[in-house]
Amino acid sequence: MQILDGKQTSEQIRQEIAAQVRKIKEQGGKTPHLAAVLVGHDGASETYVANKVRDCEEVGFESTVVRLPDTVSEQELLDRIAELNENDAIDGFIVQLPVPRHIDEHKVTLAIDPAKDVDGFCPANVGNMCLGLPTYVSATPNGIMELLSRYEIETEGKNCVVLGRSNIVGTPMAILLSRNTAPGNCTVTLLHSRSRDIAAHCRAADILIAAIGRPNYVGADMVKPGAVVIDVGITRIADDSRKSGFRLVGDVDFEAVSDKCSFITPVPGGVGPMTRASLLQNTLKACQRKS
Ligand code: GUN
Repeated sequence: MQILDGKQTSEQIRQEIAAQVRKIKEQGGKTPHLAAVLVGHDGASETYVANKVRDCEEVGFESTVVRLPDTVSEQELLDRIAELNENDAIDGFIVQLPVPRHIDEHKVTLAIDPAKDVDGFCPANVGNMCLGLPTYVSATPNGIMELLSRYEIETEGKNCVVLGRSNIVGTPMAILLSRNTAPGNCTVTLLHSRSRDIAAHCRAADILIAAIGRPNYVGADMVKPGAVVIDVGITRIADDSRKSGFRLVGDVDFEAVSDKCSFITPVPGGVGPMTRASLLQNTLKACQRKS
């Protein structure tokens, strides 16, 4: 079994981006600038945004965090998004999800200028992704494609099972891997909460991508010998022995499955860092598209 090392691979990507940013700056070009809108004080969202700011610093990007109280009205948030759309200094921006319940998430994604939607969440970019047109692919599926590509994992003709049909991971992942690209050309099965015989479908997978947010859901009995296993789950489980008070647990029972598969992503250190690197790639692309 070989680890698909997202930590190391993302470090490589960050170094590649940093080298490109140095070149842009030497040539007098614009420094890429990412903004993140953070509504309220959700602990996980605070951490994610802080990480995004740190990643930007590391590669030489500028970053801005727009903090709004959780009492902000939907209209105020839409107004701030309109300002970011108009602000030429900002190349790309994200609105950290989830937003409070009184705000319609769909309206938020629709309000973002597709040219600045570096999350790739807005309908125009999802549509372009489906059609294989230039777009921003959302960060987690993009990071997984990058891992498959950099580890030269053969995907053509393989049975791929995606567990979970979320708009930002499962559904785009299934579309990307079924397209006529490399990586791609898989025969994809997308499983969800109403699927039957989930374990049997998983056992038929050459490539198994688990993105349901249920800790240790995938056991050894659900994995075909020699399969490639990608674990997107990052559930926080209370753990008093950690300084943070929690530990991250994936959707895959790593101990049980790792003996049986050919490649596996660990949690943490697998898909998570690749997701972060993908946002940087998309932001660089947004900056370069304009120039
Ligand atoms: N919340 C959890 N993951 C993400 C992400 O990739 N982008 C945004 N905007 N919010 C998130």
